[in-house]
Amino acid sequence: EVVDLELAASDLGDYPHYMLKEIYDQPQAVRNALGGRLLPSEATVRLAGLTELGGFHPSRIKILACGTSWHAGLVGKTYFEELARIPTEVEYASEFRYRNAVIEPDTLVIAMSQSGETADTLAGLRESKRRGATPLGLVNVVGSTIARECGRGIYLRAGVEFGVAATKSFTNQLVTLLMLSIHFGRQRGMSIRQGLELLNALEELPTLMERTLELDSKIHAISEEFADADNFLYIGRALEYPIALEGALKLKEVSYIHAEGLPAAELKHGPIALITPEMPIVVTATQSFIREKVASNVQEIRARGGRIIVIVSEENHEFDRLADHVIAIPTADDLISPILATVPTQFLAYHLAVLRGCDVDQPRNLAKSVTVE
Ligand code: G6P
Repeated sequence: EVVDLELAASDLGDYPHYMLKEIYDQPQAVRNALGGRLLPSEATVRLAGLTELGGFHPSRIKILACGTSWHAGLVGKTYFEELARIPTEVEYASEFRYRNAVIEPDTLVIAMSQSGETADTLAGLRESKRRGATPLGLVNVVGSTIARECGRGIYLRAGVEFGVAATKSFTNQLVTLLMLSIHFGRQRGMSIRQGLELLNALEELPTLMERTLELDSKIHAISEEFADADNFLYIGRALEYPIALEGALKLKEVSYIHAEGLPAAELKHGPIALITPEMPIVVTATQSFIREKVASNVQEIRARGGRIIVIVSEENHEFDRLADHVIAIPTADDLISPILATVPTQFLAYHLAVLRGCDVDQPRNLAKSVTVE
């Protein structure tokens, strides 16, 4: 135990907290996730854990997860449906395990977990196996219980994550889900051209992430303005709705500020009543195909006086006059930019927590791995 702690402490380097170090680890973590797995000659990916699946072709995917991993699962649903046309459901493992869920023999159940030890995810996995599902683990910790009980899977390769708030494991989950959807997509009609475009986009991602990390001090300055806020709303659409959920969760976990993530267009069905000049709203709007729609959602917030922080791609200026703060990240493919957009939300949660004197690596009431029901 003591030795482990010493090792952990030396890993921290010059960083004041593990959360910050792990945010900065992300470009390398993504490189590790991609390492040896991109196969341009066939416009697909090579994931060793899938050879175990043999000729099994899922007609449905069910993703079981908790917390941050569940948010990653929501992104995975869009990837699988968009790129591979496989109907996908994402369930909280804690809910799934007590439901009489329909599992068909050609259902692939993905158990997704950073720790590989979450009790509810493990129980959901066991229940789905009992019902005849084919399991696949997307797990970070090598040799963990969920990894072993799945019997096959894809390791996330994020490296050890000490901070209770998941950061690099989340972005590596998104990268891994995208690779998996390219694999299934190429079996089901994805063109060589699209396969290659996605591989190129993935290869570029670590460098774009490094550029996104340069926003640290800018986001620190923005955080100072909001350090006394009692509430935050996070909004996004399509792939950025789960990014909004994850941004809100990160803020709650480490700063104890109440926050809620919403699909931007749902604001008008109730939550818009919360908007006053005191309410900060973080808008994630990097996907070009839906940007105009998000802009009109933001207009509605503007008209009610909310304080608006927008995360956009740097070539886009649609929000310059609408927002109080614009955080411009490198431009990327619509399927990739939400991964990049996660980074500013991590910085925002981190800096707000530090400014409020919170223990970011060991937030109150939370554990890194929840091994009880
Ligand atoms: C705990 C952690 C969260 C994590 C969740 C699921 O609540 O504090 O950060 O997202 O468990 O953990 P897992 O290891 O299964 O991804």
